[in-house]
Amino acid sequence: MKTFYLETFGCQMNAHDSEKVVGTLVGQGYEQVDEPAAAELVLYNTCSIRDKAEQKVFHRLQQFKREGGRGKVIGLLGCVAQQEGEKIFERAPFVNLVCGSASYNRFSELLVQIENGARRVTGLSLDTQDTFETPLTRRDNPNRAFLTIIEGCDKACSYCVVPFTRGPERSRTSQSVLREARELADMGYTEIQLLGQNVNSYRDPSAAGLNFAQLLNKVGQVPGIRRVRFTTSHPRDFTKDIIDAIDENPVLCNHVHLPVQSGSNSTLSRMQRLYTRDEYLRRIEWMKKSSRNIAITTDIIVGFPGETEAEFAETLALIDEVEYESMFSFKYSPRPNTAAVKMDDSLDETEKSRRLTIVQEKQRAIQIRRNAELIGSREEVMIEGFNKNTLQWIGRTSQHRTLNFTALEDASLKVGEYRHVLVTRSGPNSLVGELA
Ligand code: SAH
Ligand code: SF4
Ligand code: F3S
Repeated sequence: MKTFYLETFGCQMNAHDSEKVVGTLVGQGYEQVDEPAAAELVLYNTCSIRDKAEQKVFHRLQQFKREGGRGKVIGLLGCVAQQEGEKIFERAPFVNLVCGSASYNRFSELLVQIENGARRVTGLSLDTQDTFETPLTRRDNPNRAFLTIIEGCDKACSYCVVPFTRGPERSRTSQSVLREARELADMGYTEIQLLGQNVNSYRDPSAAGLNFAQLLNKVGQVPGIRRVRFTTSHPRDFTKDIIDAIDENPVLCNHVHLPVQSGSNSTLSRMQRLYTRDEYLRRIEWMKKSSRNIAITTDIIVGFPGETEAEFAETLALIDEVEYESMFSFKYSPRPNTAAVKMDDSLDETEKSRRLTIVQEKQRAIQIRRNAELIGSREEVMIEGFNKNTLQWIGRTSQHRTLNFTALEDASLKVGEYRHVLVTRSGPNSLVGELA
């Protein structure tokens, strides 16, 4: 039996790509193992979004070499693979396979070349019309399924590597998305998470010509599916009909992740984000007026080149105004090939760290306050697991909050079930409750 080990870094798109790659490998007679030492083929599905993420992979490769990885076949997939390409062979000569996500349709073929004795193979083309789909996908979670609707990115945010690592936007036909959604429901999945770097830039290439909101609506009508999520949305393409769809169909989760990056128009313009603060806030207003009590989450970058103290203050004011349910915040990291790398990266690490701490403390205070407001309310959760240390069940609300809860011992609960929980306590990052 041929064996492989696969470690995944980065975003949900990468996590889902790995599920497809695993399916492809298993379909070709490989067995997955838990330790690189036990594998003949070792794969890393890499992320390049910030320098730290990229360094992790090269650190793994060094470790691998020290610990006698020679003799094994080693492959780099994903965003660092695409970004560094053939240069990886210079930096790590023992690597045998380098393949970016836009070339995964060729992954099987590259594998055969390796099996036939090729020492170095690459899949690095970005000029593709294809999306990577396979009926063999091995999903990690038996209840919640990722489903790709669009790959790549046609934006050009000046700090971001994704357009270079994942290629141009390619949408799947609505027929193939809906077929997969129905198959997932038949297999027992109750939650679907639609994926894309910009899900709401979705454009159905078939004659049906659905836009994102229409597709969302249709996925939300698939019998057996109880929750539909989607990530990530770009504010520029975020249209009101998405909120209307959520308003009309409770299956569509009341959570929108809408990365703002900065609250300052001048910074947004240098970032090439294609929207203004006011345009962004108009979208927030649509959500706040929704009958569904939509949870809004975001991403923030601090210390972008040239970010003045006044511009930073505008980001802080925006955070106060929106009062996000949660947030990912990052220090700007200069990236290869991007437009911003040529800008004067004038802020030093200490200043970036100072700004990051201010943002995170502000957000923490907001979360403490907002989560406390939920005490006494009843929320439906999907059960995700059981924590043996705290003896609590782990639940997830439609708004994507973690709600851990206790249940009487005789309650027969199972992971994947939906239950109502009474919220009794709150913290900055989660809620605690009792089975209602
Ligand atoms: N497609 C999504 C974002 C994908 S990357 C969107 O457009 O919103 C996820 C997040 O990483 C981004 O929202 C941004 O906040 C952060 N990020 C991307 N490039 C970065 C960089 N060079 N430095 C710091 N953070 C970065
Ligand atoms: Fe990157 Fe911007 Fe594309 Fe998002 S929209 S993936 S931040 S270039
Ligand atoms: Fe990282 Fe590539 Fe995703 S850079 S965040 S793995 S698209």
